[in-house]
Amino acid sequence: MKVEIYKDYEALSQQVGMKIAKQLNEKPHSLICIAGGDTPLGLCNFLIQLHQEKRCDFTNAMFISLDEWVGLGYETQGSCKQTLYDSLFTPLELKENQIHFFDGKNTNLEEECEKMNQVIEENHGIDLIVLGIGMNGHLGFNEPGIRTEKATVVPLADKTKEVSVKYFHKELPLVSGITLGMDQIKEAKTIILMAASDKKKEIVKATVQGAVSNQVPSSLLQETQAILCVDEEAGKELV
Ligand code: PGA
Repeated sequence: MKVEIYKDYEALSQQVGMKIAKQLNEKPHSLICIAGGDTPLGLCNFLIQLHQEKRCDFTNAMFISLDEWVGLGYETQGSCKQTLYDSLFTPLELKENQIHFFDGKNTNLEEECEKMNQVIEENHGIDLIVLGIGMNGHLGFNEPGIRTEKATVVPLADKTKEVSVKYFHKELPLVSGITLGMDQIKEAKTIILMAASDKKKEIVKATVQGAVSNQVPSSLLQETQAILCVDEEAGKELV
């Protein structure tokens, strides 16, 4: 794992954005995965800016979702789908066939997993993935202690349920999540882990300098070529 520390959130968002632009410049049909959550929102804004200024062409890019809360879809403010459509896909003027997203409301979740596995296989893997880091080190909904290979439905960790309230206007009975598997993440050709702000400093340290253990899923990326991109606040415990 390589670490890049940027002065602030804006610089972090822009530098990760430039990596995506470079990827699309080199391979316009890339399969890209960008996590929902708060951390990539600045990145999404920067990508929209690149699109509006015609500095990056997204017309051939393919996007796949990382995860979704089981039971939620676009109509729930704070779902991964609502977040990514409103913050990125719609402003980028993507066509529906450029987007493959988990439907957390499908009663047949196995079908959802299969759908995503097939997209990844057909594209020979994900070209570039941008991940946030959960407060417990989860990646997508790959929660501590869970071993996943491909897309899977997993029970949410207590920490994830606790943190989830920040995304929603009302209390929701969230029990499980649907997520790409750890192997699919680890096999992505470019892996970018993003973290910002002081509240992430401990989990960032555990991710980079802690034991490699599936108790902290993000630490498993120490064994890969992942690039951990953080702002100075999130990186301040790194020695
Ligand atoms: P955040 O979420 O970007 O909202 O902090 C990260 C995560 O839980 O994966």
